[in-house]
Amino acid sequence: MSLSAEALQKRIHTPILYRDVVDSTNDLATEWLKSGAVHGSAVIADEQRKGRGRLGRMWYTPPGVALALSIILKPHADQLGSIGIAGAVSVAMMCAGLGLEGVSLKWPNDVRINGKKVCGILPEAVWQGDQLLGVILGIGVNVRVQFRDELALTATSLVTEIGHDLDRADLAADLIRRVIGWCAQAGSDALFEQWRSSLDTIGKQVVVGDVQGVALDVERSGALLVQQQDGSVQRVFAGDVMLREG
Ligand code: BTN
Repeated sequence: MSLSAEALQKRIHTPILYRDVVDSTNDLATEWLKSGAVHGSAVIADEQRKGRGRLGRMWYTPPGVALALSIILKPHADQLGSIGIAGAVSVAMMCAGLGLEGVSLKWPNDVRINGKKVCGILPEAVWQGDQLLGVILGIGVNVRVQFRDELALTATSLVTEIGHDLDRADLAADLIRRVIGWCAQAGSDALFEQWRSSLDTIGKQVVVGDVQGVALDVERSGALLVQQQDGSVQRVFAGDVMLREG
């Protein structure tokens, strides 16, 4: 099923900028924010050629098979740390709402189904001097991407997991609504507890950069607390977690 501005705008009334092809929806959303986009506006593309992932990685979105979505949000500056969390919780709840089981979050905000990544999230704050203009919440969801070989061991798609096709316009509209709803609760106990209880990282042996040990818990700042072998507890703010399952 093809995505279009019309299909999206039929399902949701928040302002939508749809493109068949973009370099990065986050870049386009940043420009739109600077030229006055309102809270909740969203940029969606069918194909994304120079998408950005966490930690400087590339995120390519092939045409017809995924969601490349950037939602423009205007939280208070002290809620910034909650926006990626709001995105992850929204995607996880969308998956659960579709009836999918085995949905969890890998710290900080990868959404996984039965341990395989289905969605990545990239929140980017946009500043003008010391004034926060807004946050671009970039969300990439594998809807019907066919992963092969090695990749199929670590990545999956919604359609692979659910066993029937899904309409990307329906998914995008549902997700935007959920994100706007959770963003209104940024910084709340409800959002923090929903995130914390969905994390599959807590209690596991982890390696994050130079830090290695047991993931004890998370803090409201979003930091992961890792207890190392010498008993000391390290606070980790960013990085890729390697989970030692079992
Ligand atoms: C990750 O590395 O896990 C985060 C990936 C985020 C990709 C999304 S796709 C839509 C938005 N536009 C971008 O350029 N990146 C994000």
